[in-house]
Amino acid sequence: MDNDSSSRIVSDLLDWIAEAPAGAKLPSTRALVTRYNASPVTVQKAIRTLTSRGLIESRPGVGTFVRAVRMARPLDYGWQTAALRAPQSRLPSSTTTMRSTPHGGVALHAGYPDRELLPERLIRSALARAARSDAALTRSPVPGLPELQSWFAGELAGATPVGITPPTASDVIVLPGSQSGLSSTFRALVTTGQPLLMESPTYWGAILAAAQAGVHVFPVPTGPTGPDPDEVARAFEESGARAFYAQPNYANPTGAQWSADTTRRILDIVQAHGAFLIEDDWANDFGITSTSVPVATQDDAGHVVYIRSLTKSVSPAIRIAAVVARGPARERILADRGAAAMYVSGVLQAAALDIVTQPGWQTHLRGLRQQLRARRDLLIDSVTEHAPLADLTAVPPGGLNLWLRLPDTADLDQLVRECERENVLIAPGTEWFPAEPSGPFIRLNYSGANPGAFPDAARVIGRALERAT
Ligand SMILES: Cc1ncc(COP(=O)(O)O)c(C=O)c1O
Repeated sequence: MDNDSSSRIVSDLLDWIAEAPAGAKLPSTRALVTRYNASPVTVQKAIRTLTSRGLIESRPGVGTFVRAVRMARPLDYGWQTAALRAPQSRLPSSTTTMRSTPHGGVALHAGYPDRELLPERLIRSALARAARSDAALTRSPVPGLPELQSWFAGELAGATPVGITPPTASDVIVLPGSQSGLSSTFRALVTTGQPLLMESPTYWGAILAAAQAGVHVFPVPTGPTGPDPDEVARAFEESGARAFYAQPNYANPTGAQWSADTTRRILDIVQAHGAFLIEDDWANDFGITSTSVPVATQDDAGHVVYIRSLTKSVSPAIRIAAVVARGPARERILADRGAAAMYVSGVLQAAALDIVTQPGWQTHLRGLRQQLRARRDLLIDSVTEHAPLADLTAVPPGGLNLWLRLPDTADLDQLVRECERENVLIAPGTEWFPAEPSGPFIRLNYSGANPGAFPDAARVIGRALERAT
């Protein structure tokens, strides 16, 4: 099916409909096929587009007709202003990274890997098998499909050292992506008005989830090997917090990975404060020069609440994640999940499980590591050569992003606008700071765009940065 010819037919028929009276009959499909020299499938697609816009309606066996157009009059929703009152916190309805890319644009702003980095063959066959399975017709248990719970528990158990009791399947709650798991965990374990420590910078979605849950965020500065444990201890003492949200492996946006020493010291501090470490392991599958070592493998006393996402490594369309928590914390989170969403689609769970248990999955992950390394290095080389004013804070050992510090005088808004004018989309670093940014930064994602475009995109960024500084 040709999208462009279908759009061409839509736009031509729009002109025709604009001139036609309500009830006018469109030419038959066969006539349209001849007129536009297009296939019946392409014509049908155009008809469906116009139908979905409410401009025409098809009467089976009779034909397709122009619908009566109702005059749009401006409506007054003013009463809602009084009924809604001022919001407790103003959540933005979209963020830079979720913007769609215009045709021909180089998407360095977004967070999702290009489809060439996904296991497409495994995905398609897993979905076909899931569609034929019982999962397609039944509801799954609230905590998730038992086999998938086991898989998530097994992933952690495989990395757990001797002497630590690994989690079991019953500690796992399957999620429809980890974003809603963050919201549930903050609501269930921190609760409204209570303090929560967060690395700064950190994932914008976690900042939003904290605002949505009404928790009070205390930022802790972080660097290429994680936050300074003394700063974490001080923040616990000053805030009275009983929870710390962190990304110990390949943090979004910096790519930082905690050193073994930082991990041990922070876990000690968390335990000493009788607190939770809410570990967001979103990039477990995206190690480049190291592997992700979850802090959760070092704890069996229920201090680490571990969230693992498969969204970006399996498929953004099979959006499956899990939270692993022990003791009453797990019950609290499960109750929140039940209230928020009841259960996760069994078809998606079955497909995700199918993919990660195929022998081809491990082969895919090995290839992915090579591809990410090549993409990362090419973007680093391109930026170093063509945008020398942007300083790479550290070479990320994994993840999908470069985090670049700009000169203090850089005007971020101007930079982003000027790059966009030349079809290069970049993300201003501002959204990753829970409080004021510590300086001007940009985040460039090397997994989403065609790497062939990196050198030219870096030239655009370099020129725009010189003008904006
Ligand atoms: C650090 C981090 N946590 C969580 C998420 C959300 O993951 P999911 O798509 O599984 O909801 C993202 C998505 O970009 C992320 O970067």
